[in-house]
Amino acid sequence: MISPPMSLLAELTHRCPLRCPYCSNPLSLEQKSSELSTEDWCRVLDEAAELGVLQVHFSGGEPMARPDLPALVRHAVSKGLYTNLITSGVLLNEQNLAELSAAGLDHVQLSFQDATPDGAELIGGLKDAQNRKLAAAQIIVADGIPLTLNFVIHRLNVMRIPQMFDLAEQLGARRVEIAHTQYYGWGLKNRGALLPSKEQLQQSERDVAAARERFGSRLAIDFVTPDYYADEPKPCMGGWGERFLNITPSGRVLPCHAAESIPNISFPNVREDSLKNIWENSEIFQLFRGTSWMPEPCRSCDRRDVDKGGCRCQALALTGRADVADPVCHRSSHRHLIDEAIAEAASHDETFIYRQMSGLPS
Ligand code: SF4
Ligand code: FES
Repeated sequence: MISPPMSLLAELTHRCPLRCPYCSNPLSLEQKSSELSTEDWCRVLDEAAELGVLQVHFSGGEPMARPDLPALVRHAVSKGLYTNLITSGVLLNEQNLAELSAAGLDHVQLSFQDATPDGAELIGGLKDAQNRKLAAAQIIVADGIPLTLNFVIHRLNVMRIPQMFDLAEQLGARRVEIAHTQYYGWGLKNRGALLPSKEQLQQSERDVAAARERFGSRLAIDFVTPDYYADEPKPCMGGWGERFLNITPSGRVLPCHAAESIPNISFPNVREDSLKNIWENSEIFQLFRGTSWMPEPCRSCDRRDVDKGGCRCQALALTGRADVADPVCHRSSHRHLIDEAIAEAASHDETFIYRQMSGLPS
């Protein structure tokens, strides 16, 4: 018996006014013409609730680019789903937030690229983005919807973590996520320019510890470290096909946002199959579920049930094979790839390949 997923990440669209070079969307972005309709998404939400999903995260791209977002939130709420909006905030205003609030939206996660306007513009590539985000935060807090601020950390903003906490306090956020960049997709393309040094990582750990001390229970703090400096990997997604599912704008169903990079496999689509059948029986969800797929050293390792062999997509991106131990692991024969990347980043310049709808520049 397979347990139901806890969370559904609904990528409503890949369209976005920002161009962050660590975007978690795939390198090949889906166009507006291929997006699921409102009716499709409502049916998917019905199926998710029946399957036992508890939370739906409306994401993108920028989910507020979809004018049907309030209708989708209302539908999800009517099915008893907890609703979270993951947004850059740059399209948010009093009117559309009031519509979302009236639809029953439970929570907003607002992304910031930095604590300063210049830093935000350097990463997002959108003029005046920081002021629009600050205004969005004020509108959300004034409405009373619980707000989490999300800061993605890299070597050009890691020194401003204390100011990020100041900003969260000023804005009345209830939670802050300080999340070091994860190096897949666009992030991997820009790894040389983004990866912090070990000293910077250690300073960020001290800054987060100091903030935890300072705020106590007034502010919940999540901290995600870059696993390149760890010697054992994290259980990516809480285990493949165990807790999460992702649906792309065109309806492909994936165990994680980067799974489309897995070669030689067909991806199920909600236009053709039920969420239940996809979750329980599709090839992609069964591929790395559990531990029976594991080769050595994971097969006989006492951490195999703890970290599930790490991240399949990272293993694929760095070694060319998804079915080997995550190279972050010190027991992996590929660990040298991580150490070489750290050494390479130390002398890399800071020019970015920005996210763009047409994919990678040639
Ligand atoms: Fe995890 Fe595999 Fe490394 Fe063991 S050998 S710690 S299971 S990645
Ligand atoms: Fe796909 Fe980690 S991102 S398993």
